[in-house]
Amino acid sequence: MKNQNNISPRQLSKNEKIPYNLLLLADETMEAIEKYIFNSDLFVVEQEAEVIAVYALYVINQEEIEIKNIAVSEAHQGQGIGKLLLQDATNKARDRGFKTLLIGTPDCAVKQLSIYQKAGFEIFDVKKRFFIENYPEPIFENGVQLQDMVMLRKFLQ
Ligand code: ACO
Repeated sequence: MKNQNNISPRQLSKNEKIPYNLLLLADETMEAIEKYIFNSDLFVVEQEAEVIAVYALYVINQEEIEIKNIAVSEAHQGQGIGKLLLQDATNKARDRGFKTLLIGTPDCAVKQLSIYQKAGFEIFDVKKRFFIENYPEPIFENGVQLQDMVMLRKFLQ
C-alpha cells in the first residue's frame, strides 16, 4: 500500500473479531492486552478484507485519552501508515473534546520514541519498573530487558 492518501481507519464494532495478531506486535501478552482492550475503541485499516493496522483508544478521564496499542503488520511497516494512525487518533481525540492524548512505550524502544516525538508527543513521565511489575515473565527486546515505561503526551487544544 504505497499511497496513504485514501486510508481512513474505521472503528471496529463490538461484535467484530479483535485483531490480536496485530495487537501482539505492540504488547507482549494476551493478559496485558485484555486489561484494556474491552474498554477501548479500536480503529483498523483494511486492505482487501485483511486488517493491516490497528490502534486502541482508552479513556482515562474526562480530559485524557491514551493510545494503548498501535500496530502495523510487518509487511506494511515503514510506509507511513503508523504516522497516519497517530494523526487519526489525534483528530478523533480532539473531536471528542479531550485535552491530552497519551502514549507509552518502553524506554529502550528508540524507533517508537522517535516516531511519537516526530508526531508531536513529548515525554512527561517514566513509570519505573512497569514491565517488571505488570508482566509475568521478563521481556527482552534487542537483548535489553524492558523495565521502565516512558509516557508521552500531546496537548490537543
Ligand atoms: N527506524 C527509525 N524511524 C523509522 C523506522 C525505523 N525502523 N521506521 C519508520 N520510521 C520513521 C519514518 O521515517 C517516519 O518518519 P517521517 O515522519 O519523518 O517520515 C515515522 O517513523 C513513521 O513511520 P511509519 O512508516 O508511519 O511507521 P509504521 O507504519 O511502521 O508504524 C509502528 C510505526 C506502529 C511503530 C510500527 O512499526 C509497528 O507496528 N511496530 C511494531 C509494534 C510496535 O512497536 N508498536 C508500538 C508499541 S507502543 C504502543 O503500542 C503504545
